[in-house]
Amino acid sequence: MAGVKAIVISEPGGPEVLRWQDVDDLIPGPGEVLIDVAASAVNRADIMQRQGHYPPPPGASPYPGLECSGRIAARAPDVDGGFSVGDEVCALLSGGGYAEQVAVPAGQVLPLPAGVDLVEAAGLPEVVCTVWSNVFMAAGLRPGETLLVHGGSSGIGTMAIQLARHVGARVAVTAGSAEKLERCRELGAEILVNYRDDDFVEALREATDGRGADVVLDNMGAKYLARNLDVLALNGRVVIIGMQGGTKAELDLGLLMRKRGAVISTSLRARPMDEKAAIVASVREHVWPLIAAGEVRPIIDRKIPMAEAAEAHRVVEASDHIGKVLLVR
Ligand SMILES: NC(=O)c1ccc[n+]([C@@H]2O[C@H](COP(=O)([O-])OP(=O)(O)OC[C@H]3O[C@@H](n4cnc5c(N)ncnc54)[C@H](OP(=O)(O)O)[C@@H]3O)[C@@H](O)[C@H]2O)c1
Repeated sequence: MAGVKAIVISEPGGPEVLRWQDVDDLIPGPGEVLIDVAASAVNRADIMQRQGHYPPPPGASPYPGLECSGRIAARAPDVDGGFSVGDEVCALLSGGGYAEQVAVPAGQVLPLPAGVDLVEAAGLPEVVCTVWSNVFMAAGLRPGETLLVHGGSSGIGTMAIQLARHVGARVAVTAGSAEKLERCRELGAEILVNYRDDDFVEALREATDGRGADVVLDNMGAKYLARNLDVLALNGRVVIIGMQGGTKAELDLGLLMRKRGAVISTSLRARPMDEKAAIVASVREHVWPLIAAGEVRPIIDRKIPMAEAAEAHRVVEASDHIGKVLLVR
C-alpha cells in the first residue's frame, strides 16, 4: 500500500534522478522503532549512492539518507524502555532518511541533546558517530597531540575540529578557500592550509617544529596517502574515511615502520548493528553532554525542503557549503 513519501533514486545519475514519490508503508521490525522524520541531512555517501557507486548494504533501505531527526511513531513489541511514542529523537541510519518515515534499530536512536532543535539535530548522528569512532575510539587522539583534518569545512571536518579542540588537541585543516579556512579558524583550527595553493606537509612541519601530525583524518584516500605518511609524527595514526582521491596507491612500509605508524580505515555504514549501537552509546555518554553544554554544536549551512533533495545534492557536489546541508519536511 502506498502510504508515505520518500526520495527515490529512479536510476543512477545526476541530481535530477532524485524523485519525491509514494513508497510502501513501513512497519518496525524486531528491535526497531519507526520515526516520523522531521529532517535528514546530505552526506557525501548519498551522492555516491545516487551515482550508482555505493549500493546500500544488505537489508538497508534503498532510499538515501544516513541520519535523521523526528518523533517516534511506533516501536516493535520487543523494544523495551528508553524511548516512547512521541519522543523527539535523532538517529544513525543505514539508509532511508530522505523520507516521511524510517524504521531503525533502537540502539541507533539518540535523544535530542539539550539546546539543539528538532530540525538541526538531523545533522548530528552521522558526523558525530564517524568522528568519535575514528578519531577517538580508533586513533585515540590525546590532549596535546596535533590532528590534521582534510576538508576541514565539511560536515565531518567541522565536527572533528570542535571535538579535537575540546580534548585539548591542536588542530590543522586543509580547505579549498580562504572563506572556508576562516570558518575553520573560528571553530578552533590553528594551522590553516589552502590545499589549492600550499603543500600541507611543509605547512605542518613548519608549524610543529618538524614533528608533524599525530593523527590525520583523511577523506582523499589514494591521492594523499604518501603525503599523509610524510606528514605523520612518530607513533602517528592515519585514519582514512573517504576515497575522494581514489582507492589504489603505494604505501611505503619502510617509512610506516620507521615512524611506528598505523593506517586505519573504517566505513560506518557497513558496520554490523551491534557495533553501531556501541558507537551510538559511546557518543551519548561522551559527546552528548558537550553538545548539551554548548561546547560543541552542529554547523548548519542551509535547510532545503526534502522534496528538493536534487538541489541539496547540487550544493554539496559543488562544495558550496560549510558544515551540513539539511533536508526538512
Ligand atoms: N568512512 C565513513 O564511515 C564515513 C562517514 C561519513 C563521511 N565519510 C567521508 O568523509 C568525507 C567528508 O564527508 P562529508 O559528508 O562531510 O562531505 P562534504 O561536506 O561534502 O565534504 C567534502 C570535503 O572534501 C574536501 N576536499 C575536496 N578536495 C580536497 C582536497 N584535494 N584536499 C582536501 N580536501 C578536499 C572539500 O573541501 P573544499 O570544500 O574546501 O573544497 C570538502 O570539505 C567524505 O569523503 C565522506 O565520504 C566517511
